[in-house]
Amino acid sequence: MRVLALTGLKGGVGKTAAAVNLAALSVADGHRTLVWDLDAQGAATHCFRLRPKLKGGAEKLFGGDRELRAAVKGTEHPDLDLVPADVSLRNADVMLAGARKPTRLVRRLLGGAGRRYDVVVIDCAPGLGAVAEAVVAVADLLLVPVIPAPLGLRAFERFSEFVVAEAGSAQLLAPFLSLVDRRKPLHRRLEAEVAGDRRFLRASVPVSSAVERLGEEQVPTVEAAPRSLAAVAYRSLWSEVSERAELR
Ligand SMILES: Nc1ncnc2c1ncn2[C@@H]1O[C@H](COP(=O)(O)OP(=O)(O)OP(=O)(O)O)[C@@H](O)[C@H]1O
Ligand SMILES: [Mg+2]
Repeated sequence: MRVLALTGLKGGVGKTAAAVNLAALSVADGHRTLVWDLDAQGAATHCFRLRPKLKGGAEKLFGGDRELRAAVKGTEHPDLDLVPADVSLRNADVMLAGARKPTRLVRRLLGGAGRRYDVVVIDCAPGLGAVAEAVVAVADLLLVPVIPAPLGLRAFERFSEFVVAEAGSAQLLAPFLSLVDRRKPLHRRLEAEVAGDRRFLRASVPVSSAVERLGEEQVPTVEAAPRSLAAVAYRSLWSEVSERAELR
């Protein structure tokens, strides 16, 4: 089982869009895949057409009273399951911080459900709380969308410092540019800058109306608009991710 987390300090940068599309590509590659929606917004849950209802609520899950597999739902894809999010996750950081051994708890939850899956994609809420700490500890790869703006890169450096403090190295980090608009000189300049940064994945996700439609159509972009530039980008991203995570 490989755990891939879409995470980072910034909100609204394309974590969920990437989680949904990478999960769809994982399934297309024949991997049994679980999406764990860890964001109270439930956006990934919505994109896979499930109800925002976490069985037993976050309290049971993070209180150690419920197994993750009891909350798993099937999706329209036979090889893709999902743990839905609901608003009970709004206090996830506080609940998890109150657990005796937060990281061990999350690892145990994943261990209990994970045996059935080749890939677990975790869609995180932005932030550096207890959930992020546990995710850094359990993930095989931390996928961080970075918007091509000075403040976007700055937020990534802060997140990177957090990961180094938590994990001892930046090795787990796999940042990639997101929401890139090549008509903008600043975006082109920062893209060139990042091209020389070995931490960054080579693929970057362009601003695309095909991705904007995801929340409405509730079909992953790579299926709804497979020829779009965004779908091409997600496929390149997936290929790099599967290589780094040694999935092929
Ligand atoms: N490549 C893209 N092109 C155009 N719009 C995009 C793209 N990626 C994401 N969006 C849009 O930007 C918004 C935020 O995207 P998304 O929900 O994936 O970000 P997020 O990082 O998960 O946000 P949050 O931190 O709130 O969870 C959404 O409305 C989404 O449709
Ligand atoms: Mg999100």
